[in-house]
Amino acid sequence: MAALATTAFALFLLCVSIFSSVSAKGGFTIDLIHRDSPRSPFYNPAETPSQRLENAFRRSFGRLSHFKPTTSSSVAQPNQAESTIINNRGEYLMELAIGTPPVPIKAIADTGSDLIWTQCKPCDDCYTQTDPLFDPSKSSTYKTVPCSSNQCTELKGRCSSEGSGSGSACQYEVNYGDQSYTIGDIAVDTLTLASTTGRNVSFPKTIIGCGHNNDGTFDKKGSGIVGLGGGDESLITQLGTSIDGKFSYCLIPFASEGDQTSKLNFGDKAVVSGSGVLSTPIVKDQTRKTFFFLTLEAISVDNTKIPFSSSSSGSGEGNIIIDSGTTLTILEQSFYSELEEAVDKVVGGERVSDPQIGIPLCYKVSLSQDLKVPNITVHFTGADVKLEQQNTFVRVSDDTVCFAFAPAQSLSIYGNLAQAGFLVGYDLKGKAVSFKPSDCTKF
Ligand SMILES: *[C@@H]1O[C@H](CO)[C@@H](O)[C@H](O)[C@H]1NC(C)=O
Ligand SMILES: *[C@@H]1O[C@H](CO)[C@@H](O)[C@H](O)[C@H]1NC(C)=O
Repeated sequence: MAALATTAFALFLLCVSIFSSVSAKGGFTIDLIHRDSPRSPFYNPAETPSQRLENAFRRSFGRLSHFKPTTSSSVAQPNQAESTIINNRGEYLMELAIGTPPVPIKAIADTGSDLIWTQCKPCDDCYTQTDPLFDPSKSSTYKTVPCSSNQCTELKGRCSSEGSGSGSACQYEVNYGDQSYTIGDIAVDTLTLASTTGRNVSFPKTIIGCGHNNDGTFDKKGSGIVGLGGGDESLITQLGTSIDGKFSYCLIPFASEGDQTSKLNFGDKAVVSGSGVLSTPIVKDQTRKTFFFLTLEAISVDNTKIPFSSSSSGSGEGNIIIDSGTTLTILEQSFYSELEEAVDKVVGGERVSDPQIGIPLCYKVSLSQDLKVPNITVHFTGADVKLEQQNTFVRVSDDTVCFAFAPAQSLSIYGNLAQAGFLVGYDLKGKAVSFKPSDCTKF
């Protein structure tokens, strides 16, 4: 099972130097729409907040297969029925437009993959999509990358005579962790992002995938995926110098979300500065360029500091992936057990188990009661991030509150609940991630 984008596009940026946009200078900001917010096409008004959380938790576990290392070693699912696992490519959506004239696309913003793609006409085999399909023949700026070009070779594209779409176009194939896939033409076209802080910004000659053959667990209300990973063909990498290697996001905490949108900032708008900024180095793994690894040294529960020793990555550098597309924070099993014990000692409440949710540590707490929660500090190298209660405990029903951390074997992920209420900035040139406690509703 191929875990992530198998199409590795090598050193693409060296070939496309014209990729920059005057309007991007000074930075810009776009909306990041939580999939369960009323602004999202995936919003289901019939779901209760606790059902939404439950589904988000299940998607956290489903997403683990997305992060499976390319080299052997399997990711164990937590002890819950596999049949309940819902696939997840990310918890947030973004709106963008492709082509000239621009055709709007509602795409999943996926920090766990790289390629930007949409379903394209003609469709050999597409999943049902609510919005009209992108028709490349109607875009004056659309151009396939020819099979015979050096660019196709550099992008590790394939050339197959019986391929879908235009026969002479360079072909891509991306397989996601759950056997969903997209196959199509590698092309360039203008990509337009709707800035919330000024004029829309356009990026000509952006590498996109024009998917003619897409199947799996894609939702009909979405029309594609925008890869926000660290690989060569991701949006972030392609925007490259025009955003000075900088982007940031501020995720609104689950409880105060309402119909507000979180924000994704680029360039100068993504600089995280001022007092209270904590920074930690990004550790790049050349075999898994998509993911941003940080180094977790310990987690403190009040005054008890538990050193992180992961059996798979030791206490070495780059032992945890930071990901906005996973709701829970996932920690390697033995470390998680130590953390759970320390937390439970402080809380001391009546424990309940809820197999529906798949989280090991939950307490019975009525709406009128307060849980005695410990202060939890996450010690990344050089950055002691002090979490708030909203980052560590979530009410999943009228009488149950759960710890937003869960175990897995040989993999650790710093999830989006832990990141909510922080401005999280990535500086790819300076190779650092910064955290600053912030009111994300004010961005
Ligand atoms: C900006 O982009 C959005 C979404 O693609 C579109 O609806 C809007 O009309 C655009 N605005 C301008 C001024 O082009
Ligand atoms: C937890 O943090 C708060 C706020 O910083 C502080 O007042 C309190 O003393 C801390 N509690 C413990 C047990 O360390």
